[in-house]
Amino acid sequence: MAQLRNVTELLERTQAILGDALLDVERQFDDELASSNPYICDILEHTRRFRGKRLRPLLCLLVAKAVGDIEREHLILAAVVEMIHTATLVHDDVLDEAAVRRHVATVNVRWNNQTSVLYGDFLFTHAFHLAASTGSADACRLIGRATNRVCEGELMQTRNRGNLSLTEEEYFSIIDGKTAELCAVSCEIGARYAGGSDAVVEAMERYGRNLGLAFQIADDVLDLTGLESSIGKTLGTDLEQQKLTLPIIRLLQLCPAEQREQLLLQLEDSSESACREVLRQARELGAVEDSLATARRCASEARQALEILPASPARELLMLLPTMSIDRSC
Ligand code: IPE
Ligand code: IPE
Ligand code: MG
Ligand code: MG
Repeated sequence: MAQLRNVTELLERTQAILGDALLDVERQFDDELASSNPYICDILEHTRRFRGKRLRPLLCLLVAKAVGDIEREHLILAAVVEMIHTATLVHDDVLDEAAVRRHVATVNVRWNNQTSVLYGDFLFTHAFHLAASTGSADACRLIGRATNRVCEGELMQTRNRGNLSLTEEEYFSIIDGKTAELCAVSCEIGARYAGGSDAVVEAMERYGRNLGLAFQIADDVLDLTGLESSIGKTLGTDLEQQKLTLPIIRLLQLCPAEQREQLLLQLEDSSESACREVLRQARELGAVEDSLATARRCASEARQALEILPASPARELLMLLPTMSIDRSC
């Protein structure tokens, strides 16, 4: 199958394989959040104007289809993981002081930080309320454990703001929690509720985790090099907030000793001109390419994990997702 060109193409191909399952997930999502409170309706209306890529529900459903059949639990839990993901974004935009998300003003800009914190909480609590409607304590435990790890990742990231000696190991531990965990559990749920064996469930978890790592490394590169108008969210916040990401960690490794002190000053300064200079060096010294090569290694690990599954259109599409997660402009 040819590589995917964009998200629209991805959604079209997914629909050809899954039929209306993604629409069912949207319905679960909307029904759970529906409110008669006009203030909440306003916020829901605003955030609904541009939906995200729906990557996590898509992973859950495609894995389910590649392993067996899509069941009621998949439709509910796919909406749950998307709700948790959305909650983390609403909170993340407060932490990053971001102004744009999914091509519209963030909740913190359109309303204020207080509203974002509480709306994020609203999304988290509804996610757990919806998960309980499966009637499965195991499902709630899986979702709960994954969300614990996501929050731990975010906490570790905040703890390390301004730490210019963050190691690669520490960086991987942070992104494994804040991003890869939710992709991993989406795939795990996909396999588990489709009746996958332990070995298949484990392999799908590994697929999701490696895809998530590749996705976040690419996101960290895009934060430096991407175009806000096409990505649709505020960029450059990692350097602004002094969050060290892989391209910067690699830059610090590749930087000649005599330039290092100057680079550290630029990272501490984090003004617009200092950030521009950091990006120039990251490109020139190969730190951007180097990081993308690491992302591609994670993508390849993800694809290998899929080899346990028999060939099918769903598996074929899953094979394309890791690379698409890296070569994306949105
Ligand atoms: C953004 O995730 C946050 C990261 C983990 C980098 P997505 O890029 O999947 O966000 P949406 O849902 O498509 O907006
Ligand atoms: C991902 O980190 C945020 C979460 C997983 C909550 P980022 O801060 O890089 O996400 P974006 O770039 O704002 O989407
Ligand atoms: Mg952010
Ligand atoms: Mg980012």
